[in-house]
Amino acid sequence: MRLLVTGGSGYLGGELLRRAPDAVGTAYTGSGDVRLDVRDAAAVARIVESVRPDAVIHTAYARHGDGAWETNVAGARNVALAAAAAGARLVHLSTDVVFAGDAGRPYVEDDPPHPVTGYGRAKAEAEAAVRAAAPGAAVVRTSLVYGGPSPSPHERAVLAAAGGVLDMAFFTDEIRCPVHVCDLAEAVLELVGLAYAGPLHVAGGDAVSRHEFARLVAGAAGHDPDRLRGARSSELPERRPLDCRLDCGRARTLLRTRLRGVREVLQGPSRSTRHSPSALV
Ligand SMILES: NC(=O)c1ccc[n+]([C@@H]2O[C@H](COP(=O)([O-])OP(=O)(O)OC[C@H]3O[C@@H](n4cnc5c(N)ncnc54)[C@H](OP(=O)(O)O)[C@@H]3O)[C@@H](O)[C@H]2O)c1
Repeated sequence: MRLLVTGGSGYLGGELLRRAPDAVGTAYTGSGDVRLDVRDAAAVARIVESVRPDAVIHTAYARHGDGAWETNVAGARNVALAAAAAGARLVHLSTDVVFAGDAGRPYVEDDPPHPVTGYGRAKAEAEAAVRAAAPGAAVVRTSLVYGGPSPSPHERAVLAAAGGVLDMAFFTDEIRCPVHVCDLAEAVLELVGLAYAGPLHVAGGDAVSRHEFARLVAGAAGHDPDRLRGARSSELPERRPLDCRLDCGRARTLLRTRLRGVREVLQGPSRSTRHSPSALV
């Protein structure tokens, strides 16, 4: 199977390439096999034509910045159109914050997106563009990703705060289902081989606040979790999605990959070696 991974220089893309070393990965500013700006439709088409992939996993995105909307929306559309033209299977990565976080229950795949942030709006628009261009694509909505060989941005902030080099508080009222990057990568690779189309919720089995997540990460790295301050997101002037729990029942039925909860990974007896304090600090 020939596999093309956009965003191969990124956190999830890097894990996908470690697990599928024959795949071609793209990079934008970082290092990788192939340099690609997904906003450039002709460049996307050229790469897909030259790699001739059986499947494309689209992880590339931009969280912030001037080009973020175009990268997330036009980029996703360009990749989906090129994959569809080549007859390649597409797995597109999306996020739990396509939801407003005010349902008071875990979101299921059939819930309509209702984003309340610019990033959420871009990712919801990207989902629609992907589904229009490539109706057979799987759209994986996931949550906070952690657990790679080097700390994710979420983990880096926690470790800096726990180490006393960053003054930061963690929200006690924003609920997420953090997912270990190995579980997510494995699930995505499994999904490549299935014919599943449409949104699929793929996140960790424990719903925790960002503050609890921070405490777990700090504790697993040997820091004192009590150093981490909590704060309430709902007291900020701008609206942020609060409770973005994802119901992953469909993924549990469909996939062999077990989506472990963050408490199990970071506190359980079989704690991953990727979480030894030396790997995190
Ligand atoms: N991380 C999370 O907690 C989280 C949570 C929910 C959903 N997701 C979703 O999961 C996916 C992967 O996230 P991640 O954390 O692995 O991302 P990441 O580490 O931030 O990596 C982003 C990747 O996108 C590439 N990129 C940025 N702009 C580009 C452009 N214009 N053209 C081509 N490539 C570009 C970057 O390339 P360079 O580094 O080479 O510049 C990098 O490889 C995203 O779709 C995201 O929405 C992530």
